[in-house]
Amino acid sequence: MRVFPSLAALFIAWFAVLGCIKAVTLEVKEGNSTCIKAELSASFSITYNASSGTRTASVSLPDSTAVDAASSSCGSDGSSPWLVAVFGSGHTLGLSFSNNGSVYSVVNLTLQYNLSDTSVFPDANSSDVVTVVSGSVGIWAPINTTYRCLSPTAVRVGGATVTFSDMRLEAYMPGNDLSPTESICVADQATTTAPTTTASTAATTTPEPTPPGTPERGTYSVKNSNGTICLLAEMGLQLNVSFLSQTQNKTVQELLNLTPNLTNSTGSCGTSSATLVLTQEQTTVLSFTFTANSTSNKYHLSGISLQANWSDMTAPISASNNSLDYLRSTLGRSYMCNAEQTLVVVPTFSLNIFRLQVQPFGITTNQFATAEDCQMDQDQMLIPIIVGAALAGLVLIVLIAYLIGRKRSHAGYQTI
Ligand SMILES: *[C@@H]1O[C@H](CO)[C@@H](O)[C@H](O)[C@H]1NC(C)=O
Ligand SMILES: *[C@@H]1O[C@H](CO)[C@@H](O)[C@H](O)[C@H]1NC(C)=O
Ligand SMILES: *[C@@H]1O[C@H](CO)[C@@H](O)[C@H](O)[C@H]1NC(C)=O
Ligand SMILES: *[C@@H]1O[C@H](CO)[C@@H](O)[C@H](O)[C@H]1NC(C)=O
Ligand SMILES: *[C@@H]1O[C@H](CO)[C@@H](O)[C@H](O)[C@H]1NC(C)=O
Ligand SMILES: *[C@@H]1O[C@H](CO)[C@@H](O)[C@H](O)[C@H]1NC(C)=O
Ligand SMILES: *[C@@H]1O[C@H](CO)[C@@H](O)[C@H](O)[C@H]1NC(C)=O
Ligand SMILES: *[C@@H]1O[C@H](CO)[C@@H](O)[C@H](O)[C@H]1NC(C)=O
Ligand SMILES: *[C@@H]1O[C@H](CO)[C@@H](O)[C@H](O)[C@H]1NC(C)=O
Ligand SMILES: *[C@@H]1O[C@H](CO)[C@@H](O)[C@H](O)[C@H]1NC(C)=O
Ligand SMILES: *[C@@H]1O[C@H](CO)[C@@H](O)[C@H](O)[C@H]1NC(C)=O
Ligand SMILES: *[C@@H]1O[C@H](CO)[C@@H](O)[C@H](O)[C@H]1NC(C)=O
Repeated sequence: MRVFPSLAALFIAWFAVLGCIKAVTLEVKEGNSTCIKAELSASFSITYNASSGTRTASVSLPDSTAVDAASSSCGSDGSSPWLVAVFGSGHTLGLSFSNNGSVYSVVNLTLQYNLSDTSVFPDANSSDVVTVVSGSVGIWAPINTTYRCLSPTAVRVGGATVTFSDMRLEAYMPGNDLSPTESICVADQATTTAPTTTASTAATTTPEPTPPGTPERGTYSVKNSNGTICLLAEMGLQLNVSFLSQTQNKTVQELLNLTPNLTNSTGSCGTSSATLVLTQEQTTVLSFTFTANSTSNKYHLSGISLQANWSDMTAPISASNNSLDYLRSTLGRSYMCNAEQTLVVVPTFSLNIFRLQVQPFGITTNQFATAEDCQMDQDQMLIPIIVGAALAGLVLIVLIAYLIGRKRSHAGYQTI
């Protein structure tokens, strides 16, 4: 199956590196001194009303995110220090801080999103700017220390979930740089201690869950308003998620196979973007976004998002990545891959896909169009061809050697 394991490892490493680079740095200053500094990655999963029903949008804090200096404040006028980051078409994320002399904390988190941004909220039946506020979000640290949390932390705000990761943050800063002393969040403490303890204890105390095996292949489709299928997919899906386990009090890796007859498919189709949303028993929502490019006449899988609330999770998780480039194929064709593929979404979530055929655009008569095979399948087809060619070459060489040998021996007899 795995022809190029080293290549796959390289691929995963490359994505892990990319994932680290994506953190943004935000600073609130007053004059020359910095009072709040944050380095973080954040992704948002926002539920909104669309003409076709409720939909979920996924956005990540882009590199272009900037601090809104006019709204942000260091709180020198007696108000709370406030970090306001703006991104995209009028979306903002605000963090408000307070301290009691020894500890500072994030008092509330404000998310403002602009439903008229159709690139993020296609099909929204409102064009309002929506503001939602959370209460305390559990981010706190002693003064003069940096709060550090590399593990994903999900915060629920209204109908949205904000997931922070790779976070380093400080307010009421004594200098212009993050304090070298770090306060490490509970989730990271669990992950950093894990490598030293799991090797000896895992085998004896906590029996590893048995791997679930190859997932069953399901058929999922999205229909137009007139009832014709506009997106069709057949595949076996296995989620590989790491999260903080409630029972084991440490980060665990879990594999979950989607069961086709317990999974509902919905979604939407458009000319340049199509979405497939799979929901399994209210505990797992997995969505795929495909993007078409009419200039290059290609399409690809550009986004994957997951929201999961499994029984052993300490908190629901939400993970998304909208700058993916997987399953590239030509418009008017379907994409097929029999080999297992691993799609890394974020460092804590990857998706294993088995026996895939998908077509997000240009479906006619409810059926797949001609398939384009993935590179891995083509490589696998190449192996028998190469082996065959090598064998044929060998036979030819033996034959030639035999003929030459015969000719030589004939010549030998004639001289006598
Ligand atoms: C900022 O720093 C520069 C050089 O250190 C100094 O000249 C300037 O007065 C400072 N500005 C403020 C507002 O403190
Ligand atoms: C969707 O619309 C319904 C009815 O107007 C409303 O009750 C609900 O709060 C809306 N949901 C969102 C996420 O805006
Ligand atoms: C938006 O769509 C929902 C259904 O998805 C519907 O209940 C609601 O009334 C709509 N709201 C507006 C303002 O059209
Ligand atoms: C919301 O988005 C629309 C379209 O992208 C834009 O024209 C508008 O200015 C945005 N609103 C705000 C408050 O930024
Ligand atoms: C500040 O808050 C922390 C956490 O809530 C608490 O442990 C600490 O005692 C408080 N300190 C003071 C001086 O109130
Ligand atoms: C957030 O908390 C700060 C400090 O307690 C408060 O001043 C502000 O009004 C709060 N914001 C919202 C939107 O509730
Ligand atoms: C934090 O550091 C500043 C400057 O180094 C110092 O003046 C202040 O007392 C410190 N605060 C605490 C609570 O340690
Ligand atoms: C169904 O609607 C789509 C666009 O929404 C259109 O392209 C297609 O021709 C329609 N099919 C039928 C059978 O009406
Ligand atoms: C699940 O993900 C982890 C970490 O990315 C990886 O080590 C493991 O091999 C994956 N397992 C499967 C079955 O894909
Ligand atoms: C979980 O583990 C952390 C650190 O390993 C520990 O501080 C905490 O008390 C534990 N919590 C429970 C509920 O066991
Ligand atoms: C789902 O499929 C499995 C095996 O194919 C079967 O045992 C189970 O009864 C099915 N469940 C439902 C709800 O159809
Ligand atoms: C579409 O493809 C063309 C040609 O490959 C490329 O130049 C362009 O940037 C692509 N457009 C988008 C939106 O990706």
